[in-house]
Amino acid sequence: MSENAGGCCRCCCSFIFTLGLTSLFMWLSLRTSNPKCSIEGFYLPALDKSSNNRNNTTLQFQLKLENTNKDKGVYYDDVNVTVYDFPNRSHIIGTSVIGRFYQGHKKTAHKNGTAPTDQKVVSRAVFANGSALFRVDLVTAVRFKIIAWKTKRHKIAVGADVEVNVNGTKVNKKNIKLSSSGSNNVSYYCCCVGILLYFFVLIFA
Ligand SMILES: *[C@@H]1O[C@H](CO)[C@@H](O)[C@H](O)[C@H]1NC(C)=O
Ligand SMILES: *[C@@H]1O[C@H](CO)[C@@H](O)[C@H](O)[C@H]1NC(C)=O
Ligand SMILES: *[C@@H]1O[C@H](CO)[C@@H](O)[C@H](O)[C@H]1NC(C)=O
Ligand SMILES: *[C@@H]1O[C@H](CO)[C@@H](O)[C@H](O)[C@H]1NC(C)=O
Repeated sequence: MSENAGGCCRCCCSFIFTLGLTSLFMWLSLRTSNPKCSIEGFYLPALDKSSNNRNNTTLQFQLKLENTNKDKGVYYDDVNVTVYDFPNRSHIIGTSVIGRFYQGHKKTAHKNGTAPTDQKVVSRAVFANGSALFRVDLVTAVRFKIIAWKTKRHKIAVGADVEVNVNGTKVNKKNIKLSSSGSNNVSYYCCCVGILLYFFVLIFA
């Protein structure tokens, strides 16, 4: 009787253990991370004191979009870029849409965009010394491709402040990382805690 019960318990334990390992591996292989977005270039000819093309009011920018997933592709929806006059987003200077595209795993895309700007609003962002401060927001949604399957849409909303010098280009020589103000890592931590709890239960069961 007791031997039987012991065998049953062992069997049950190994079943739970296998289930645990399987879900851990499932989670590891289904886990996705959002693409990294940054601004590589930002040029407003209208603010370029050294240019004789100051009637050109079109903003030119370059985005870097990086899929950091080792084995998942990314389907981007239209990428909406909005530029505001102040970090507090009081007025829209211009908008630009980068069309939807697919990106393979571990790939980096460099996307050029242009946005016609409203010079009246631009002038509000310019300091007395000729430099200016803008807010750039990026909104899109992505689906991840896992083998032959597409996940549901994950919304991405990121942004950064961009300082522009008297030559109309961004002051920061390095790429400007676009980041979200909210906590988009909540589900990730929930998942971690869930798995830890699971193993906790396993050990004490
Ligand atoms: C800008 O355009 C105005 C009229 O459209 C012209 O008079 C002016 O010379 C132009 N300025 C430059 C720097 O091209
Ligand atoms: C945004 O900031 C600018 C400059 O700091 C200020 O003039 C403007 O009133 C602010 N707008 C809002 C809506 O807070
Ligand atoms: C211009 O003025 C702004 C605001 O006072 C300041 O943040 C910025 O650093 C200045 N830029 C230069 C090049 O002095
Ligand atoms: C992007 O902008 C277009 C219109 O310009 C809008 O229809 C679309 O919903 C926007 N996408 C996102 C993710 O906000």
